Amino acid sequence: MSIFLALETSCDETSASIVSSDTDGISILSNVVSSQIALHAPHGGVIPNLAAREHTKNINIVIKQALHEANISSSEIDVLAVTNAPGLIPALLVGTTTAKTLSWLWKKPLLGIHHLEGHIYANFITTEEYNLLKKDTREIFPLLALIVSGGHTQLVLMKGHFQYEIIGETQDDAVGEAFDKTARLLGLGYPGGPEVSRCAQKAKEKTSPLINISLPRPMIHKPNFNFSFSGLKTAVLTLVKRYRQEHNLADTDTLDTPFINAVCAEFEQAAVDVLISKTLRALETYEIRTVVLAGGVSANTHLQKSLALAIREKFPSIHFSLPPTHCITDNAAMIGAAAAMRWELMNDKEKFLTHDTWKHLETRANALLSEKK
Ligand code: KG4
Ligand code: ZN
Repeated sequence: MSIFLALETSCDETSASIVSSDTDGISILSNVVSSQIALHAPHGGVIPNLAAREHTKNINIVIKQALHEANISSSEIDVLAVTNAPGLIPALLVGTTTAKTLSWLWKKPLLGIHHLEGHIYANFITTEEYNLLKKDTREIFPLLALIVSGGHTQLVLMKGHFQYEIIGETQDDAVGEAFDKTARLLGLGYPGGPEVSRCAQKAKEKTSPLINISLPRPMIHKPNFNFSFSGLKTAVLTLVKRYRQEHNLADTDTLDTPFINAVCAEFEQAAVDVLISKTLRALETYEIRTVVLAGGVSANTHLQKSLALAIREKFPSIHFSLPPTHCITDNAAMIGAAAAMRWELMNDKEKFLTHDTWKHLETRANALLSEKK
């Protein structure tokens, strides 16, 4: 059995987790997440230097808490892991500098993990439901990952562990970003995803009068696997402007709840329609055994259910996986899971060399998943 201490500070969550891996798979012993949502909410988005300041304040406390909750002492840690790309540089540096220092001080191996790799490998954390994913790799690959987060929207083809081919991606905004911007236009809180989703649900419950709203499904008919979400956000802006004019509302006046709910429902449906359509197109094109959903927007239950249904109907032999609920938005357990899987696949020499990672690990804002070896 190996025990991992993983750190994640790429955006606005300071997180430390203790993960163990053995022949039964990858388990979480603790996963402490200190969220900065309240700090950034008034700005409607994450301010990098504010995030870094909070990470610096909290990182050691979060590590201590993770060790305490797992009932593990620092001497029992076998391997350290940290998100080193992509993300906000001032934020990432807090995690990487801490991890490098601990690696040097404790003389432990260190693995740098790509943030999106973490989101994908959250699907490999063992719970009964996800058992299939720890079985023989011949049964799970080729695998298609639909990555939907605040910074990324990608379809990634994996023919084996840690082999990534980006077959499609957003040409502009990420889907999570579109959720956040739509929420902002409607006067809802940050992060926007959960808020938009909650309001969309209200519209579906039909407690308020029905309002007909129609938004575009950008690039849905384009014969590729790419996405575009900025047009959808602009369409929401146009709708809101027109509604304000028609109802004599000033820019600072709050919008009516039935209107907000109706826009949210249509926006969510438009985003889900495009994501599903492009995923199905990829499944028609490639031989795929498993589809995994990854990234913060995977928390959207409408997306989860609709994608599961679409795959079951059209490709009943494909296994569809979601990350465990508590590992969907940014957290360090997913970084530990990716590290554990990498460690398992390394030979002794490669493992030995990771004792020196602290000397050369780079912190990068924009590294592509497919650049990672
Ligand atoms: O993966 P994540 O935690 O951070 C990034 O790597 O970006 O994703 C955060 C994104 C935010 O844009 C947030 O609004 C979105 O995930 N999100 C959701 C939901 N929960 C979080 N979007 C739609 N529905 C949700 N329930
Ligand atoms: Zn993320």
